[in-house]
Amino acid sequence: MYSEKVLEHFRNPRNVGEIEDADGIGEVGNPKCGDIMKMYLKIEDGIIVDVKFKTFGCGSAIASSSMATEMIKGKSIGEAMKLTNKAVAEALDGLPPIKMHCSVLAEQAVKAALLDYSKKNNVHIEGLEDFNPTDDSHEHHELEEL
Ligand code: FES
Repeated sequence: MYSEKVLEHFRNPRNVGEIEDADGIGEVGNPKCGDIMKMYLKIEDGIIVDVKFKTFGCGSAIASSSMATEMIKGKSIGEAMKLTNKAVAEALDGLPPIKMHCSVLAEQAVKAALLDYSKKNNVHIEGLEDFNPTDDSHEHHELEEL
């Protein structure tokens, strides 16, 4: 049911923890399962130099957040903004359809942390204008696709 990559990231998640002096912190929750994900970003000159996460959630959410941190570390804010839950799931060699919403949490946690950064530093981040971490319409969309 789960790919080797999912299992491997679940057993040995990368970048777990928190960043004390994070420049952006995002916390999102999935109202349906109650799982919570917190993402910490350290940003220098527009580059994500460090990222850590804490996930209180299912194995797919842990594997998704682990993979998401690897995918955005060392990348620019613009590149991190392009990270989609589908890209995270693909990098994990797929998630079972019923678990796709867990990867949505990872995408949203990254965006929520970037939003926090943009507010604290008064910088505009293209694409975050309509982002609302409490809006789960994206997730409904994902579920409707099943
Ligand atoms: Fe809640 Fe996976 S079941 S995030």
